Amino acid sequence: MNRKYRRTIIAGNWKMNKTPAEAKALIEELKTKVGKQKWCDVVLCVPFVDIPAAIRATRDAKISIAAQNMHFEKSGAFTGEVSADMLKELGVKYVVIGHSERREYFGETDKTVNLKVKAALENGLRPIVCVGESLDQRESDITAEHITMQVKLALADITADQLRKIVFAYEPIWAIGTGKTATAEQASEVCGLIRAVIRAKYGARVARSVTIQYGGSMNPKNAAELLAQLDIDGGLIGGASLKADDFAAIINAANQ
Ligand code: 13P
Repeated sequence: MNRKYRRTIIAGNWKMNKTPAEAKALIEELKTKVGKQKWCDVVLCVPFVDIPAAIRATRDAKISIAAQNMHFEKSGAFTGEVSADMLKELGVKYVVIGHSERREYFGETDKTVNLKVKAALENGLRPIVCVGESLDQRESDITAEHITMQVKLALADITADQLRKIVFAYEPIWAIGTGKTATAEQASEVCGLIRAVIRAKYGARVARSVTIQYGGSMNPKNAAELLAQLDIDGGLIGGASLKADDFAAIINAANQ
C-alpha cells in the first residue's frame, strides 16, 4: 500500500456462489464485522442476479458493488449477455474484466478485454482488469513478458484520464483457489512491473495513482504481509470473501 498516492481497495470476488437471499445474509453479517474503513474501499463482485439485493443491502454501508463480467456492445443479439449501461442503471460501480477463469473457460481474449475496458469507462464503470501468468509461463521464465503484453493490450487506446479510473489485479493463475499464495516478494515484483509498464506509457504521476491489487489465495493470515508491500494496493479475494469473518479480517488488516 502507498496511502499517499492511491486508495487501497479490498474486493471480494464471489464467482458463481450465493443466491440473492444468501447474498443479503452474507452482506448483513459482513457489515457487523467490518470496523471503521478509514484507509480502504470495499467492493463486492457478485453474480448478476445478486446485484439488486446486494445494492439494497449495502445502501447504509461504504461498500460498492461490482459485476464479474459484461459485454462490450451497447445492446443487440447477444443471448445471455449483459451490457455496461444495464449494470450502471442498477447502481453497479465496478466491473471485473478479463478474470483468468473468463479467459480460460469463456474465450475472453486480450482484444475483448480491451473492448470491455473501453465500454465500461464510457459508461462510468470502473474496470478491475485481471492479468496473470500460468504455472507453465512462470516456470518458463516468461512471466514478465506475458504480464507486459496483457497490460499493454488491455490499455490500447486508453487515455491517461481514463487510466485513472482503472484498477489492476495481478492474479497468478497457479495461486487461484489452490491455497498456494505468491510470496510477498513475487507478488510485489509483478505489481511493480505492472506499474512500470503504465509509467512507461503514461508517466510517473499517473502510474503512482493507479491501484494494483493482488489476488490468489489471499486470506486473513497472509493479507497483512502482502498489503505491506508498497506496490500492492489491495486484494481481489475469492474463497475467503465468502466467509464474513475472513473477509472482514482482511478488510480490517488493510485499515491498520
Ligand atoms: P482465491 O482467493 O479463491 O484464490 O481466488 C482468487 C481470485 O480468483 C479472485 O478473483
